[in-house]
Amino acid sequence: MITRVLSVDPAQPDPALIEEAAAALRSGRLVAFPTETVYGLGANALDPAAVARIFEAKGRPATDPLIVHIAHIGQLSMCASHVPPAARRLGLAFWAGPLTIILPKKPQIPDSVTAGLPSVAVRVPSHRVARALMEMAGVPVAAPSANQFSRPSPTTAAHVLADLDGRIDVVLDGGATDIGLESTIVDFTVEPPVMRRPGGLTLDQIHTVVPEVVATTQQGSAAVAQAAPGQLTRHYAPRAELTLYEGETARVVQRVAADVRTLTAKGERVGILAPEEDLLALAPELAPLAAAGRVAVRPYGSRLDLARAARELFAALRELDATGVSHILATSIGTEGLGIAVLDRLTRAAEGRVRRV
Ligand code: TXA
Ligand code: MG
Repeated sequence: MITRVLSVDPAQPDPALIEEAAAALRSGRLVAFPTETVYGLGANALDPAAVARIFEAKGRPATDPLIVHIAHIGQLSMCASHVPPAARRLGLAFWAGPLTIILPKKPQIPDSVTAGLPSVAVRVPSHRVARALMEMAGVPVAAPSANQFSRPSPTTAAHVLADLDGRIDVVLDGGATDIGLESTIVDFTVEPPVMRRPGGLTLDQIHTVVPEVVATTQQGSAAVAQAAPGQLTRHYAPRAELTLYEGETARVVQRVAADVRTLTAKGERVGILAPEEDLLALAPELAPLAAAGRVAVRPYGSRLDLARAARELFAALRELDATGVSHILATSIGTEGLGIAVLDRLTRAAEGRVRRV
C-alpha cells in the first residue's frame, strides 16, 4: 500500500484535505493525524474490520485496548453507558485537551476496541486538525499512538512514516505536536477514581476539579496489570539498551560520567539523553569522547522548562537511537508537574535498568 501524506496548516487546516482523510476513515481505512499530545493512528471505532487493521499495522497485541476520540463532550453518549458526575466535571474542565477518561462502555463499541473490557477510554483532543477530522468523519475514532508497537510515540509525521510507511493509508502532516507526551488517563470505573497513566495533564491540575483521584502506587502489580492492560508491556523501547539514572543531580552526573568512561573504554558507543543542565555539567567529560565519535549527545529541554522537556523527549530518544549507539544513559527532570510523566516514560524505556544513586 502507498501511504498518502497530506500536509495541512495546523492553525487553519484546509477543509478539502480533512474531508479526504475523513472519507478514508468512513470507508474503513487508517489515517494518522496530529493531536496536541502525539500523533494518533485512527480508524472508525464502530467498524471492527477497520479496528483490526490498527492492531495489524502497529504489530500491537489485541490485549492492549485503544482510546476512542470524539469531537466534543456531547458525543460521550455514543461510547459510554454511564458518566459519573465527577467524570463529567473533569471532562468539562479539561476537554478538549490531554485527558482520557475510562467509563463503562456502550454495547455499540466493538470488543476489539476495548480488548474485551467492559470499559472504554475516551478523549476529546484539542488539536485543530484532530477536531476537524472527528467532526467531518462523524464517527468516533479509535486511535492509539501512531508508532510501531513498543517504539517511542511519534511527535512528527516523519516519525509516523519511519514506523508505518506503506502500512497505513493516509498521514495528515500538521507539524510537530505541542505537548509531546500522551494524555493522562483517569479511570472512573473504580472508586475512588485512579490515574492509570501520568501524561500531559498533571495530577495537581486534576485535583483542582476532582480531589478524590488517586495515583496508582502499585505500578507493576497484578492488580494494575488487570486494570490498565497494555501499560506493562514493553514500551518506548529504543533499540539501544537504555539506563535511567535517578537521584541528586551532582551524584547522577558523577555516576553517568564514570559509566560513560567504562563503556567507551570497552569500545561501546554511548548515547546521552539528558536535560541541558546535566549536559553542561557533563561537558568536560563528554566533549573529547563526542569529538572522537564514541559518544552521541541529545538534550531534551531543561529543568527550567518542563513543557519543552516533555515536547522534545521522544524526538531526542528516536534521534539518539538512529545514531546506532549500543547504550543510552538517560537522566530525568525531577517529579514536579510534567516531570512525573517524563519519568514514567523513561522508566518504561529503561525496562528495569534504573540506577538510584
Ligand atoms: O495522548 C494520547 O492518549 C494518544 C493520542 C493519540 O490520543 N493516544 C495514546 O494511545 O497514547 P495508546 O494506545 O498509545 O495508549 C492507550 C492506553 C492503553 O495502552 C491502555 O493502557 C489504556 O490506554 N486504555 C485504553 N482503554 C482502556 C480501558 N478500557 N481500560 C484501561 N486502560 C485502557
Ligand atoms: Mg502508545
